[in-house]
Amino acid sequence: MEQTKVLIKNIKALYLADENIAAPLVGSKMKDLPFLENAYLAVEGDHIVGYGLMEDWEGITDWNNLEIIDADNQIIYPTYCDSHTHMVFANSREEEFEDRIKGLSYEEIAQRGGGILNSAKALQQKDEDTLFQEAKQRLDKLIKLGTGAIEIKSGYGLTKDAELKMLRVAKRLQKEMPIPIKTTFLGAHAIPPEYKEKPDAYVDLIINEMLPAVAEEKLADYIDAFCEKGYFTAEQTERVIDAGAKYGLKAKIHVNQFNAMGGVELCCKKGAISVDHLEILTDKDIAALKNSSTMAVGLPSCSFFLGLDYTDGKKLISENIPLAIASDFNPGSTPSGNMNFVFSLACVKMKLLPTEALAALTINGAKAMELDKEVGSISVGKKANFIITKPVKNLAYIPYSFGENNIDKVFINGKEYK
Ligand code: NIG
Ligand code: FE
Repeated sequence: MEQTKVLIKNIKALYLADENIAAPLVGSKMKDLPFLENAYLAVEGDHIVGYGLMEDWEGITDWNNLEIIDADNQIIYPTYCDSHTHMVFANSREEEFEDRIKGLSYEEIAQRGGGILNSAKALQQKDEDTLFQEAKQRLDKLIKLGTGAIEIKSGYGLTKDAELKMLRVAKRLQKEMPIPIKTTFLGAHAIPPEYKEKPDAYVDLIINEMLPAVAEEKLADYIDAFCEKGYFTAEQTERVIDAGAKYGLKAKIHVNQFNAMGGVELCCKKGAISVDHLEILTDKDIAALKNSSTMAVGLPSCSFFLGLDYTDGKKLISENIPLAIASDFNPGSTPSGNMNFVFSLACVKMKLLPTEALAALTINGAKAMELDKEVGSISVGKKANFIITKPVKNLAYIPYSFGENNIDKVFINGKEYK
């Protein structure tokens, strides 16, 4: 059967239109994103086959199976590539939200057995199919909000069985949902209560029992740990990273959310794919990142929700350190996976220019999950995953009008996602 074709014409601005985009974009390349004004975009089957200026468009020679969309006054850019989420979970945690409004901190709530441990208890009790159906609905909503590639972590299991259950759910999403999904094993998310007095024994369990089982079933692409006071030390994180490497799992690590404990240097030395959070960023961390291939990932919705400092994205960009920005969607610190809001926060709170933020949310996000050959830009041969905005004046209007839905259509694999 002939493949369906879509031609979108009169596009006001087509962003990240580039054949040879060098991911990740760094420094001034983020601000100067490639784009075309008054452009067309051609799709065949599930991928992009061409684009260019309307004045260079050769007209239509083959009308078979062709859908034409007039995008007058509309902008097109790649779907968001969300490289950091915990979007498989069993319970919402609005009680803790109220406790924080009353004055307790995220750390205090965690010390009382709330936080990640609260979610772990709920997840251990929920069956795999229910978890899957709930996560599927969540992901369906995210795709409609423009997310076209995503990473999903475990870490609400904290027992071998529950961690495997979570990762199987993520793997099933990978099979049944139309967007690229990467999975990350985060057994080292919190110390379960029964290991409170012997945290190293829990690290042993992760390394000697959970990890081999995860690898055996090929459930994860990456390994993660929460390197933080009250969670995992830099030494324990190092053991987890090294163990993951033995199974071919590269590291993407939670570091510097509340404290700098040497985690960034460690991750850079170990060749981690990314270090995520970085609300705290020291000169030493910057120096380590500059001398490495490790990407920095900012999570501004988490800072917004917990009232923390924002990752110093401007500093990272000025130092030519590759920066991606992701949602951190999870029921505790970031109960939203809406990347449109993340786009606004990247501009309003991290003070990035709209083009810098867009680079961080698309091509750099793709790179932070090694999907930059498939998604993240408008390039011939890449997946036809893109957002068509409603008629707007310019790109800046999208992050500026925070909370407004500016999306007209989301295309995934060459088809409108409904
Ligand atoms: O990235 N910081 C650690 N993990 C998550 C929060 C998890 C939770 O509170 O459930 C985060 O913010
Ligand atoms: Fe996280």
